[in-house]
Amino acid sequence: IKRIGIMTGGGDCPGLNPVIRAVTKMATKEYGWEVIGIRNGYKGLYENDWVKLEGDITSGLLHKGGTILYSSNKDNLFHYLVEENGEMVYKDVSDVGVENIRNLGIDVMFIVGGDGTLTSARDFARKGVNVVAIPKTIDNDLASTDRTFGFSTAVNVATEALDRLHTTAQSHHRIMVLEVMGRYAGWIALHAGIAGGADVILLPEIPYDIHKVAEKIEERKKHGKNFSIVVVGEGAKPLDGEVVVRDVIEDSPDPIRLGGIGIKVAHDLEKLCGNETRATILGHLQRGGSPSSSDRILSTRYGVAAVKLAAEGKFGNMVTLKGSHMSYDSLENVIGQKSKNVNPNGELVETARSIGISFGD
Ligand code: F6P
Repeated sequence: IKRIGIMTGGGDCPGLNPVIRAVTKMATKEYGWEVIGIRNGYKGLYENDWVKLEGDITSGLLHKGGTILYSSNKDNLFHYLVEENGEMVYKDVSDVGVENIRNLGIDVMFIVGGDGTLTSARDFARKGVNVVAIPKTIDNDLASTDRTFGFSTAVNVATEALDRLHTTAQSHHRIMVLEVMGRYAGWIALHAGIAGGADVILLPEIPYDIHKVAEKIEERKKHGKNFSIVVVGEGAKPLDGEVVVRDVIEDSPDPIRLGGIGIKVAHDLEKLCGNETRATILGHLQRGGSPSSSDRILSTRYGVAAVKLAAEGKFGNMVTLKGSHMSYDSLENVIGQKSKNVNPNGELVETARSIGISFGD
């Protein structure tokens, strides 16, 4: 190996810059490889947009949020929107990507991403590209690995938000509803809810009955607690499946990304409990900014493990964290698996229930 490429794809997440830093440091210092950064994910691979990672570009990255290589969300070179005869059509342009990799003299591509980005990484591996993949998502829902970087930062941000909501909730005898990210998985909601002392946690994995949530709030009032804190994972669903705010935003191709279930829960609780209720949608605050110390460490471990994998010639794999050890799994295996969800009967949910947290079920 003489030259490697690295790119970040999909939604950004705290820890991407530390990964770029770790890969670049180890590749250049330990192995003497050159490192090419592909900008804007797969879009940049198609457009041959790159930068050599050396010198100043790679310093001061550890604490920086976002990604210095930028990212593009849904770009997929196997199904890419291009102009043809004055019309926009979807085409498989992956050969252009492969050719650009070859022309740049890149021996191994390090692809950092979530499920969409990794599916294309597998497809490039199938086309003969030497790929080493690194997982990232704040949602922590990738099945092949125990923990992804970005998650701890998102949980910290949500926990701090809950601490702040507590004091204002108490002052005004209000119900405060915090909607957090996580897509169809409730990991951020569950962890932040426990860490932030929530009274109710609503998860996509446990459909809720709003009357049960109201009962919990009323029970608190009987004990002199005239305020309550409710955490709602953005993918949470009411048991009766009734229409939620985001469902009525008709022209959104992906309504979950707009947020809104928290507003629905707040609206219903105000009616049922009579307390003034306020909703906060935490949104992209969970993804921006500096990575937590544990995300800095985890992303550094992922980066180093990925370089080792490449040095051993183990291509077509993704680095993983298994227990307390770095390991790897084939991309074929990774992509074949369903996403990792909270176990409604698992130890963490049971722990929360044991201290009186309601899941609205
Ligand atoms: O997958 C990470 C995530 O932040 C989800 O928690 C959220 O639903 C989604 O991405 C938002 O994506 P976008 O970048 O399109 O707003």
